[in-house]
Amino acid sequence: MSEKLWGGRFSESTDKLVEKFNASIDVDKRLYASDIQGSIAHLKMMAHEGIITDAEAQTLVAGLETVKGRIDRNEIEFSDTLEDIHMTVEDALGKVSGTVARKLHTGRSRNDQVALDVRLYLKDETQSIIGMLKDFQKALVTLAADHTRTVLPGYTHLQRAQPVLFAHHMMAYYEMIKRDVQRFEDSLVRVDVMPLGAAALAGTTFPINRQFTCDVLGFGKVSENSMDSVSDRDFIMEFISHASICMIHLSRLSEELILWSSSEFGFITISDAFTTGSSIMPQKKNPDVAELVRGKTGRVVGNLMAILTTMKSLPMAYNKDMQEDKEPLFDTVDTLKICLEVYTRMFPNITVHKETMRSACSRGFLNATDFADYLVNRGLPFREAHAAAGKAVAFAISQDKALEDLTLDEMKTFSDLVDPDIYEFISLDQMIARRISYGGTGYDNVSRAVDQAKEELNLT
Ligand code: ARG
Repeated sequence: MSEKLWGGRFSESTDKLVEKFNASIDVDKRLYASDIQGSIAHLKMMAHEGIITDAEAQTLVAGLETVKGRIDRNEIEFSDTLEDIHMTVEDALGKVSGTVARKLHTGRSRNDQVALDVRLYLKDETQSIIGMLKDFQKALVTLAADHTRTVLPGYTHLQRAQPVLFAHHMMAYYEMIKRDVQRFEDSLVRVDVMPLGAAALAGTTFPINRQFTCDVLGFGKVSENSMDSVSDRDFIMEFISHASICMIHLSRLSEELILWSSSEFGFITISDAFTTGSSIMPQKKNPDVAELVRGKTGRVVGNLMAILTTMKSLPMAYNKDMQEDKEPLFDTVDTLKICLEVYTRMFPNITVHKETMRSACSRGFLNATDFADYLVNRGLPFREAHAAAGKAVAFAISQDKALEDLTLDEMKTFSDLVDPDIYEFISLDQMIARRISYGGTGYDNVSRAVDQAKEELNLT
């Protein structure tokens, strides 16, 4: 007979290569605390229902706590022979508590056990990611609050478009992260479901009490269908999907930080502690942190493709393919967390070059729309005003001038509606101040948005 916990029907021992191939312990050992927590709840429930005695439950709970301490202290050696964390814990419990440990697995399967472990783990990690997202929002809002009067070009197609406040630009990311928080909070409702008791796929013949286990573990509800409970991983797909969207937001911010810290833009300087040098070019100071966040977005999106493709077309119920769910999940958790942590620390170390940003607004005809708006205010239909302003721009380009450098007479050749107050009207500060439509870059709007965000984040 094989030595394995499942070895009863086997007469040959497992091929060594198969053992290595089959094992997930290197990856799923991370679940040991959840696994033990789940087993303790299972034991309590079984004692409560008279499936095992109170004395047996007490011995085994104490035994599991000892096992946890040993794993905490790195005293347990993980080996492929024991395949995964579930069998490793059960084997270690046997060594601590003796043969009574063989009762632990009554009325459950590794299939519902692993679903439980991952849900416990992910509930916890989702909550800590939500906390980290809020910390990062605080960093964004803190920087925004310092720049409610700092003007820079707003871009479309990476061409200068209209002036905006730097705070407004930062608050755009605040909004994106806010939705990321909402997505993770919403997904928690679906993670917070207790699958234990589904057993292998069909439920169990033992008189278990799933609600009791659910209450001990603090889950919101018990899962409904035993086959679904052990065989879907949509909560993992959903988490990685939300993480991918969040990383894509961070990658867009990264791209801007990289551009802005180039000599071509010169809008920001990232402090030495958050940049690195070149081994050959002595002058280099590279925005590696931002580049890595941008690059790691690829990993996370890759993880999403991995889990989706693994789950595609799997017949019900559990299939071993699903053991492949953990690497992409864990890698996503680790990657998202470190990216958020490093950005939260880097943000206070960004110096914003207000003057450079401001002077970048003087080239690129950021006031062309306002020139047209001026004419509209004087009765010209917008399309005609647009054409007149376009001609004025073309003329200014031919003269290598900005719009505000044209003389009044030159301007009048494009529309006789122009008066001397045009110069004030198309000045930078006026352009910002007039954008009072709700959600626009007007000074009051932006200050209000920053104040509201501070309130939301309890930032004073
Ligand atoms: N290591 C396995 C996994 O992560 C646990 C479940 C194994 N179940 C089984 N019947 N082989 O998927």
